[in-house]
Amino acid sequence: MKIRTLIFIICCTLIVSIKASNDKRYDAIHSGTPWFDQNNREVNAHGACIVKEGNKYYLFGEYKSDTANVFTGFSCYSSTDLMNWKFERIVLPVQTTGLMGPNRVGERVKVMKCPITGEFVMYMHSDNLLYKDPNIAYATCKTINGVYQFVGPLLFEGKPIHKWDMGTFQDTDGKGYLLIHHGFIYELSGDYKSVKRLVINQKQGGEAPAIFKSKGIYYWLSSNLSSWEKNDNMYLTATSLEGPWTFRANFAPEGSLTWNSQTTFVLPVANKKDTVWMFMGDRWSFPRQGSAATYVWQPVRIDTGKVFLPDYLENWTLDVSTATFQETRLDVKSVFGSITAQKSNWVAENHQLKSNEKDASLTFTFIGTKVGVKALTNNKGGYARITIFEGKKKIVLTAVVDLYSKNEAHSQVFVSPTLEKGSYMLKVEALGEHPAWTDKSKTIYGSTDNFVVLEDVYVFK
Ligand code: DGJ
Repeated sequence: MKIRTLIFIICCTLIVSIKASNDKRYDAIHSGTPWFDQNNREVNAHGACIVKEGNKYYLFGEYKSDTANVFTGFSCYSSTDLMNWKFERIVLPVQTTGLMGPNRVGERVKVMKCPITGEFVMYMHSDNLLYKDPNIAYATCKTINGVYQFVGPLLFEGKPIHKWDMGTFQDTDGKGYLLIHHGFIYELSGDYKSVKRLVINQKQGGEAPAIFKSKGIYYWLSSNLSSWEKNDNMYLTATSLEGPWTFRANFAPEGSLTWNSQTTFVLPVANKKDTVWMFMGDRWSFPRQGSAATYVWQPVRIDTGKVFLPDYLENWTLDVSTATFQETRLDVKSVFGSITAQKSNWVAENHQLKSNEKDASLTFTFIGTKVGVKALTNNKGGYARITIFEGKKKIVLTAVVDLYSKNEAHSQVFVSPTLEKGSYMLKVEALGEHPAWTDKSKTIYGSTDNFVVLEDVYVFK
């Protein structure tokens, strides 16, 4: 064999193995932590949905910013395993004018493929910055990950639908439905570009609606109203979308605040004989939505007419080929004892390191491929920046984590993607800021202090 051919084969093998390792940077779903795409940028897709097309899953979400609640575009990511996400593009940029023009709100983007036209139709909640001009709007594209053409308001009987929180549902017969907060279901026209009829206005449920169907039973999940704060979300069931719908209960343990999340979508993952449903929730973080809001994705347990998330799996895998899931037990070694406190403004007590002072920082050096951080979250929690350096200087990736929660928790708040084996430094900095906001009624929400309370830093074996 000619030497050139041999070199070509070796190069191709190397390229494939490097790409493969890049594609397999995650081997689990790590709920409640920032995820990183192929460019080591945070996955930024909130109020999201997932659409399967071919052998890929496409994640669509609000591309949030840290500085304002203004629409900056809807993002699209792709994955073959629901764990490793590739940024595709901003599929709906800010329009030059109109409902999705500058200084508007754009939320709860949902996409469905119309079985009749083959077009991908994108729906969204458009509003002004005071949430006083709600409209449901839509856009279309011939390819799932192309740039969508904005069309305008979705019309029912020739008029816009002035409602805010929305979801969509595609039934097994291909009919598409628009779900609206507090109990409205509209059936879409055959081309999915207008409303055919109001199916029901049953004045139950709340915001952030999502429906899925299992074994002939429809499950309608939604949240109570608490602005960006989490609450115990609820569900109803029916054997027909026309109802009657029966209010059931919360679908996560009372007081868990739906494991600190708000419903956005439920994804069926099926093979020829089984289906597992994945709950997708948002763990909002105002104002740093772009860098600190995370995702709570959990396997849904279903028992004829009952749906529940009985426990919170911090790390778990969903095998998309066998439609099975299992919790991941981490094989890690703590490096918490190796800290180098840059300043004396950290207090070490009860196996914790705590500070609420701006720029207080700690560094942890490690040799390995993957690192995680566990922290206390509570009503005095603030923001922390976590950065991984290669050697001492070169930034590999950085993220802001939100350590506020209404109820106290001890959670994994950061997990890196799998890196090339090497010597790294992990730096944790207290930002001296915390999540806080008010809603339309001027109710104050969020944290009352800026605490960063670390409980462990561990290297994956
Ligand atoms: C709750 C909604 O579900 C979100 O989409 C967003 O509109 C917030 N309220 C704003 O406070």
